[in-house]
Amino acid sequence: MTEHAPELFGTLPDGTEVHRWTLERAGTRAEILTYGGIVRSLQVPDREGRTANVVLGFPSLDGYLAHPDPYLGALVGRYANRIAGARFPLDGVVYALEPNNGPNSLHGGARGFDKRVWDAGPVDHGLRLSRVSPHGEEGFPGRLSVSATYTLDAAGALRIGYEATTDAPTVLNLTHHGYFNLAGHDAGHAGGHALRIAASRFTPVDADLIPTGVLQDVTGTRFDFRETRRTGSGYDHNFVLDKGVSAAAQEAAELHDPASGRTLTISTTEPGLQLYTADHLPAPFAPADGIALETQHFPDSPNQPGFPSTVLRPGEVFRSETVYAFSVR
Ligand code: BGC
Repeated sequence: MTEHAPELFGTLPDGTEVHRWTLERAGTRAEILTYGGIVRSLQVPDREGRTANVVLGFPSLDGYLAHPDPYLGALVGRYANRIAGARFPLDGVVYALEPNNGPNSLHGGARGFDKRVWDAGPVDHGLRLSRVSPHGEEGFPGRLSVSATYTLDAAGALRIGYEATTDAPTVLNLTHHGYFNLAGHDAGHAGGHALRIAASRFTPVDADLIPTGVLQDVTGTRFDFRETRRTGSGYDHNFVLDKGVSAAAQEAAELHDPASGRTLTISTTEPGLQLYTADHLPAPFAPADGIALETQHFPDSPNQPGFPSTVLRPGEVFRSETVYAFSVR
């Protein structure tokens, strides 16, 4: 482990400083920003030992401020993915959010967790970001104390662990919105990557990408990633992981770049995985320059009683972990 002191990465228009933490261990080098918990860069070796950054990111803070829409590498909350009609019932009260995606709420609202500056402190082989999201922030109830701990383990895997508590009933769905290109962040179209997802079902959606509520069998469809297939383009869908919600992180997906040999194995405690083939990316990126694999609960769970619950109540501790492990073959 090489220790790096956090550096100044940029300054927000209101004068708030944003810092960059750099972690290095077992061949992996990760840069994490206190703005939005963004993983700006993640460098890993290929089968010849050549290192490349395998996630999309901007070189400076200005890029993130000018282009928030793709949520590049960000920590997304309070509710990753969509809430239909930007409203949800909880204990008999209907909470209204500000729609920011057609009629729906996407990724926590206009100023979600990805646009906040987090407090940062060191932990063994990593850092812990934390903040208090006040009651009513972006329309969500409950004062939420939330943290995300980023560490590199002895094998060089990036582990992101989330914890949260609330003082009133609320809903919560957190994800890391990384876009991977295992050939390198500047290698161009990533549609030739081979992807496997341990999911026999997915959640079909309507025209606004809201799940219909059905858990549909993937057999015989382009959603069957149980055997490896090319990612191509045109995916923005949640897969129902066969393992379900698990107390410890279990394998959910594997992404492989045949050219470099780099392989990413994602394990998670979460029950769902959103595959987004990045069909809309701002310049300097082109469509499908990366592949977003977002571990999470299913979209619109607060309005879908049949989906695993995203409700967090006072006295409970929300815990979630996702592991991004790298290897070559
Ligand atoms: C969503 C996409 C959205 C993208 C960038 C993904 O998680 O599923 O619909 O365009 O994030 O905001």
